[in-house]
Amino acid sequence: MADVNVAVIYYSATGTIATVADSIADTARKAGAEVRLRRVAELAPDSAIDSNPAWRANIDATADIPEAEAADMEWADAVIFGSPTRFGNITSQLKQFLDRLGPLWLEGKLADKVYTGFTSSATTHGGQETTLLALYNTIHHFGGILVTPGYTDPSKFIDGNPYGTSHVAGQGDIPVGEQTLTAARVQTQRVVRFTRALKTGLAAGT
Ligand SMILES: Cc1cc2nc3c(=O)[nH]c(=O)nc-3n(C[C@H](O)[C@H](O)[C@H](O)COP(=O)(O)O)c2cc1C
Repeated sequence: MADVNVAVIYYSATGTIATVADSIADTARKAGAEVRLRRVAELAPDSAIDSNPAWRANIDATADIPEAEAADMEWADAVIFGSPTRFGNITSQLKQFLDRLGPLWLEGKLADKVYTGFTSSATTHGGQETTLLALYNTIHHFGGILVTPGYTDPSKFIDGNPYGTSHVAGQGDIPVGEQTLTAARVQTQRVVRFTRALKTGLAAGT
């Protein structure tokens, strides 16, 4: 049985974040974690989704991924959140998931876990860092332990985002490639390593 539980909880409209989430889940499994890959509930009406074929295609392609529930947060030792940038902020879909965690927060059940985030945007510098920092505001309220990549690996000096993995997707015409996948791998391995250390230390009463 795996010694740490990692929940990868994301929203993706047109599939970029879903692709990165998949690879993060895979890396966490390879690092020895038990993983739950979960998408948050869609809030947009069918009329909006159907106006963008890539949006509809992603919804259909990910229909078998279970919807995230509060119980996944309670289960997790580490939570890796993913959201595209929306005007420099996280999506309303992910925000709604967070906003419904009040009862767990009140019981202190969101504290003492490891958290981190990843994002994507259409344009370079299109709000990736502000999106991650906006997400991280909430983590402070949880009493969570933020584990970000920083510049702890040579690859970080190439992708340049110490706050978390971020992909520039253009108008959906720039697929997730080696640079983003490397960033995701580095961040996830670091998260699993520190989650394991934190869990072991807490269990030992340190
Ligand atoms: C309402 C809205 C706001 C957006 N705001 C930004 C933005 O501020 N900067 C940017 O570069 N891209 C912005 N985008 C583009 C998305 O971030 C981009 O399509 C997304 O990262 C793709 O991820 P996905 O394929 O997982 O949905 C916006 C898209 C929408 C629909």
